[in-house]
Amino acid sequence: MSRDELSLQYHGLFLPKETHSQDSLKFAEDFKFEDSDVIAVTFPKSGTVWMQEILPLILNEGDLTPVQTIPNWDRVPWLEETRLALVMDQLKSPRALVTHFLYDLMPASFHQSKAKIIYVMRNPKDVIVSFYYFHQMAAFLEDPGTFDEFLDKFLDGKLAFGKWTDHVKSWRKPELGDRILYITYEEMKEDLPTALRKISRFLGKNLREEVIQKIAENCSFTVMKNNPMSNFSLVPKVYMDSDKSPFLRKGVAGDWKNHFTSEQLSHLNSVITKELDGFTLPWSLN
Ligand code: A3P
Repeated sequence: MSRDELSLQYHGLFLPKETHSQDSLKFAEDFKFEDSDVIAVTFPKSGTVWMQEILPLILNEGDLTPVQTIPNWDRVPWLEETRLALVMDQLKSPRALVTHFLYDLMPASFHQSKAKIIYVMRNPKDVIVSFYYFHQMAAFLEDPGTFDEFLDKFLDGKLAFGKWTDHVKSWRKPELGDRILYITYEEMKEDLPTALRKISRFLGKNLREEVIQKIAENCSFTVMKNNPMSNFSLVPKVYMDSDKSPFLRKGVAGDWKNHFTSEQLSHLNSVITKELDGFTLPWSLN
C-alpha cells in the first residue's frame, strides 16, 4: 500500500494509521503534563525503545519488574499514539513518556509545566539505514523501494515525522534551559554506564554504582533483543515481521558504511549541511 493509504496527515506530517488516530492526536493535544513527568524525544530510529527501557530502570532504581512485565509501548507510551489513552491511568508518578513530535507540536500543558526532556539524537546516516529496514518489516509503513529511493524520501521529508533536520533544530530551544538534556545514541553506545549516570543525575536520581551496572546490563542490546517485553515479538507477524528484519536489528553506530555509496554520501552531506544552516552536530557527516 502507498504512504497515503497507510497514513493520516497531521500538521503536514504523515503518521502511520496503525498507531495514530485523530483521537490519539487530540488526546495528545489535551494531555496534561505534570512537573514530575519526563519525556524522551527522538526522531524515529534514534533510540526510542532503548529509552523505554532505560527510563523505568532509572526511575525505579534498578527494579526489573516494569521492563520484564509490561510491553515497552505501555510502559513508556508515545504521547501521540493510540495506546496512551488506554494505559494512562496505570502510569505511576513520576511518569515517563516518549514522543517523535517536533517541538511546535507539543501541547500547551507541556510548555506550562516543568516536565523534563531528554532529546536523543542519532547520526542521520544510521537513522536512514535503520528506518530502511524498519520499512521492510513493518506492514504499516510503505515498501521502502531501493536504498537510493528511500534516501531521497528521507531527505525530502516524505517519511513519518518529516525532515530529520527540522526535528533536531526544532528542539534546540534555549528557553528550555536545564529542563532538557541532549544525549546521543553514539555516546550511549560508546559508554552506557557514563550515559546512565548522566541521565540519572539529570532526573535527580543518585544511584549506587552497582545499580548503574545492573541497569547497563539489562538495557544492553543483547538483553533487550531477548526480552519479549521490548523486542516487539508480542506484535503479530502480519504487522511486524522479524523474519524480514528484527526490530532490534544491529544496534551499532556506523552501519551506514555498509550501505552508502560515495555519491549518496556526498548528496546527503550537501543537503543536510545546507539545511542545518550553521547548527552544529556532535559527529562529522563524512
Ligand atoms: P538498528 O536498526 O540500527 O539496529 P527506535 O527505537 O527509535 O525505533 O530505534 C531503533 C534502533 O535503536 C535500532 O537500530 C535498534 O537496534 C536500536 N536499539 C534499540 N535498543 C538498543 C540497545 N540497547 N543498544 C543499541 N541499540 C539499540
